[in-house]
Amino acid sequence: MSLYSGLSTLPPDALLGLMVAYREDKRDEKFDLGVGVYKDEAGNTPILSAVKKAEARMLAAQDSKVYEGPRGNVDFCAHVEDFVFGAGHPARAEGRTLSFTAPGGCGALYAGVSLMRRMGTKKVWVSKPTWPNHPNVVKSLGLDVAEYDYAVGGTLSPTGILESLMQAEPGDGVIIQGPCHNPTGIDIPERLWTALGDLAKSKGLVVMVDVAYHGFARSLGEDMAGVRAFLEAAGEGMVAYSCSKNFGLYRERTGCFLALGSTPEGIAAATTHVAAIGRASWSMPPAHGAGIVATILGDAELRAEWEAELSSMRNRMIALRKALSDALVAETGSNSLGELARQNGMFSQLPITPEGAKKLREDLGLYMPASGRINIAGINANDIPRIAEILATAL
Ligand code: LMR
Repeated sequence: MSLYSGLSTLPPDALLGLMVAYREDKRDEKFDLGVGVYKDEAGNTPILSAVKKAEARMLAAQDSKVYEGPRGNVDFCAHVEDFVFGAGHPARAEGRTLSFTAPGGCGALYAGVSLMRRMGTKKVWVSKPTWPNHPNVVKSLGLDVAEYDYAVGGTLSPTGILESLMQAEPGDGVIIQGPCHNPTGIDIPERLWTALGDLAKSKGLVVMVDVAYHGFARSLGEDMAGVRAFLEAAGEGMVAYSCSKNFGLYRERTGCFLALGSTPEGIAAATTHVAAIGRASWSMPPAHGAGIVATILGDAELRAEWEAELSSMRNRMIALRKALSDALVAETGSNSLGELARQNGMFSQLPITPEGAKKLREDLGLYMPASGRINIAGINANDIPRIAEILATAL
């Protein structure tokens, strides 16, 4: 009998468990299409050169580790506001925006769902399918989860999204993914973002847009067009922004929680609540990753270098998508797999069952979650013919 004997043992987190199992697999031939981490052609996840240079500058210049305060690095926050709202957005001068450094995109999501709860939200809608940690965060905060149809048979379902959300009650929360959708790689076109903004406004929905892969679809500017169209139409909303992927800062936990309001009074009140949420959980946000991003974005040369590195990660993912999609079409004879080449970011979802995914892992050493999601950004181009051959056995 122990203090803890009342606890049941939980299964390992599906994605993190897969990461460990892959590392421990001793087979010579194994392929990791699991957790969402970018790898270069050599199979490494290198520190970006702009990040290395920014860290060297910080090491030389930093003379204190004292707390930065509840908002964390305010220069970092201003740069992310530039990305999300735009440098000249009038709401910023009018005190109708807020931004807080958060421990990763997930910390920002946690802040947003916690704020929804303080606003009286009881239920949060997530896309079907979505990143498993979305419902996880919502449930761990004691709120109910509902799902809106998102993609059916590998194709975006605008009618499904709008019809599901028509069922939402005023005050319900909604998490919508910006670029790029995890797990499907299928993003919302700009006109649908506007329709979603109109719907959120007319129904009084509390929407948080989760932006975890900014710059991985087309370009920094184009990737944010839909999010901005949404905010324009809705007039109010929240954004969770992650720098894990686009700056390669995974373990530094670098994110930002932002909100746009229709009145400065509303945003002033919300600011006190976000500060209180942070204080009761992480107390003060981590500084290192936000310092790196602020150093890069505040320096023209480092910024240009980062943008070039981001473009090369994106171009590699686009080329891998095309090659894998061609190989899968050739292997299976199914043209629908050609869609992979038109999807965005690190992930796509294949029509592979949980049993099929388990069999691929156990029999052929190919690791992917039970949802049929594949991380394309972790593949080596030379392995594509073999990966396509293995995947085709389950398609
Ligand atoms: C993923 O979806 O694989 C990544 O976002 C990593 C994670 O934390 O799950």
